[in-house]
Formats: sequence, C-alpha cells, structure tokens
Amino acid sequence: MTLEEAAARLRAAGCVFAEEEARLIAEAAGDDPRAHESLVRRRISGEPLEVVVGWAWFAGLRIPIAPGVFVPRRRTELVARLATSLTPPGGRVVDLCCGAGAIAAAVAHARPDLAVTAADVDPAAVVLASRTLAPLGASCLVSDMDGALPDLAGRVDTVTACPPYVPTAQIALMPREARDHEPRLALDGGPDGAALQRAVLAASARLLRAGGVAIIETSEALAALTLAAAAAAGFAADVEHDEELGAVAVIARR
Ligand SMILES: C[S@@+](CC[C@H](N)C(=O)[O-])C[C@H]1O[C@@H](n2cnc3c(N)ncnc32)[C@H](O)[C@@H]1O
Repeated sequence: MTLEEAAARLRAAGCVFAEEEARLIAEAAGDDPRAHESLVRRRISGEPLEVVVGWAWFAGLRIPIAPGVFVPRRRTELVARLATSLTPPGGRVVDLCCGAGAIAAAVAHARPDLAVTAADVDPAAVVLASRTLAPLGASCLVSDMDGALPDLAGRVDTVTACPPYVPTAQIALMPREARDHEPRLALDGGPDGAALQRAVLAASARLLRAGGVAIIETSEALAALTLAAAAAAGFAADVEHDEELGAVAVIARR
C-alpha cells in the first residue's frame, strides 16, 4: 500500500490529519506490508493513533504506549513544565497516577539531578512506565494513593498528578476513542470529577516536606472545586493556565 492509498483510506474513515497519520503508520509498520495493512485497519476501526503506532509525543519525547493504557495528552506538559521549574536542585519528585509515565519521563529527562518516582494502581501502566523510566534513572511501582510510598513520607519536594477528573456522568459524552479504548479507571473522577484530585491532595499532605508543592492537572470547569479541595486539605493554592496547550493546573503549596 502506498502512502497515498493509506491516506485516502484514513481520510474516508474520518481521520482529519490523514496524510500525517499515514506517514506515522507507515513508519511504525517498517518494511512489513502485512503489519502496514493491519495498523491501517486498526486506525480505521477507531483505535487512537498513538495506540496504533505505539507511542505518543510528549514534551519532545516519544512515550511508548500500549493498548489499555491512557494516552498522555499534550496539555499535561504544563504539569511537567511546572515541576521542572519549581523543584529545587537535587530534589525528589513523585508522580501519582502516572499512567504511561509521561510526566515522570519529561521531568527526569529535563532534570537529571532529580530523584523521580512514579506510581499507578494499574499494573499494565506500571509495566509500560517502568520500561520508559528506567533508562532515565527513574522508577515506577504499583500503588494506590492511600498507601503510596510510605518510605517517602515528608521527604518529597514535588508531587505531580494528572488523575482521572471526568465527572462520572460526563464519560458518556467523551469522544469514542477515549470511551472505547481507554480504561474507565483512567477517566472516572467520581460524581463531581474531583474525587481522585482529593486523594492526590491527601497523599501529597503526607508525602510533601514543609514548603513542597503538589501540581495537579484540572480543567477550566473543575478548577474551583480543585482549589477548594486543596484549601480543605490545608494547602495554599492557585491556578496556572497555558492557553496554547488548553491546559489548567492547580499548584498547591504546603
Ligand atoms: C488520566 S490518566 C493519566 C495518566 C498519566 N498521568 C498521563 O498524564 O498520561 C489517570 C491514571 O490514574 C490511574 N489511577 C486511577 N485511580 C488511581 C488510584 N486510586 N491510585 C493510583 N492511580 C490511579 C489510572 O490507572 C490512570 O493511569
């Protein structure tokens, strides 16, 4: 199949950036025509491009992706960027709800002086993230937030997190790619969307040293609730925006 033929099939299936997707899919297939056909079919059937090609672009890095693991979004680069600039030299960063490990990888890559640990409750995500993080000198483990990393209590400079924050009732309104191909565990933020953000803040109150910061992704619609949750957990918090990325994050200071 030529690039033009692949692009035509992808365009007919509704892919807006068909030429670019055809190029990336051909690159992922290498010299194997059967793999090429199979990847094009998977994309046409609605799998996210990142799952089909096996990686997502994030903060200048190719983050490996596998089926069933949340695909990192470019907007989450704001959390990684804030952690990179706010963490003191030689400091310790913990990335909760790490998924494929994009935030932890971006921070470890930009700041080799930092000790970076990631955690997620989903073993499939942790296997994937561990492989990505090990060459960067960072590690990843399976952990719920409640009991996360007891050895690090009071010793962490920065907690980062992009937890699930879609209100349960709004999951049905998400694009099919997310609903059909990403685990509900990675999307469902509970009745008001902020349940997992509260869990991140509770874990952060335990993990952070005095003066440490928790940097939590949120949305425009949810930011007031995230701020209220931070205040209720004893943090002084404010909101950061990145208009270009369409990103919103709360910085909660201990
Ligand atoms: C929205 S995804 C974000 C993943 C990653 N931070 C990123 O930006 O690509 C949320 C992640 O939270 C994890 N998660 C959900 N509930 C959790 C919990 N109670 N403790 C730890 N991780 C959890 C999911 O497995 C999923 O990987």
